[in-house]
Amino acid sequence: MSLLEKMFTTLFLKRKKVVNPDLLRQLDKSKLPKHVAIIMDGNGRWAARRGLPRSAGHQAGVESLRSIVEICCELGISILTVYAFSTENWKRPQEEVDTLMNLLTQYLQNEINELHRKNIKINPIGRLDQLPESARKELERAADLTKNNNRLILNLALNYGGRAEIVDAVKVISKKIAAGTLSPAMITEETIAEHLYTRNLPDPDLLIRPSGEYRISNFLLWQIAYTEFWITEVLWPEFNSEHLIKALLDYTNRERRFGGLKI
Ligand code: FPP
Repeated sequence: MSLLEKMFTTLFLKRKKVVNPDLLRQLDKSKLPKHVAIIMDGNGRWAARRGLPRSAGHQAGVESLRSIVEICCELGISILTVYAFSTENWKRPQEEVDTLMNLLTQYLQNEINELHRKNIKINPIGRLDQLPESARKELERAADLTKNNNRLILNLALNYGGRAEIVDAVKVISKKIAAGTLSPAMITEETIAEHLYTRNLPDPDLLIRPSGEYRISNFLLWQIAYTEFWITEVLWPEFNSEHLIKALLDYTNRERRFGGLKI
């Protein structure tokens, strides 16, 4: 990114909205979702519309993540799962893959102390062993440092695929069957859930997808069986606290029946 492009991105980011108190007042805190998942989509389009390289879009995407993590903390959301790099994203040009990995490493290096101070637990999920060593090391360091934190669990989905996650779970379950420690007749939905990367965590209550795409893109396939969706045309680098609060307001007004009837 050139200096001019960096300045433009920084100026744009400074314009990010602070929380609107009127919207905030409408929010019934007792009905907030425990677990919010986000597909951080639209970085490339955001950059293209401004004549900037895709890397500028990803950089701006990191700033959105930073502000959304903060507001989730303030609102008392317990778990935030963000889709940062999919098992399919390796198909992108090497330069873009490198940019994303470098942004991840920098994000962790720059933010880890602040995240720790805010009592946030960093929980990377995905096939982490295939990530570049520098990113893997920072992730391990961040996860270790923050392992006892409990204000917000930040699941970073990296080299993550919903299908890969199910394959990995099936492999472990099969090994247990082969070793005689698990019998096929004993397998329940809980058995599968306990072998996913998200074991011990409740399923997402709300899934947000910016950039107006109506697809799941291999994200949390098992976990979203009864998750509420909220889709917006807003691109991820423009997504701010006001958009999050609108999504939460919408969620708090929905009736969730989980296949049953209204009580
Ligand atoms: C999708 O937008 C976004 C990604 C593939 C990467 C998301 C990554 C970040 C927000 C930053 C890095 C994350 C961390 C944890 C530091 P796209 O590029 O596919 O957008 P497009 O569909 O408009 O091209």
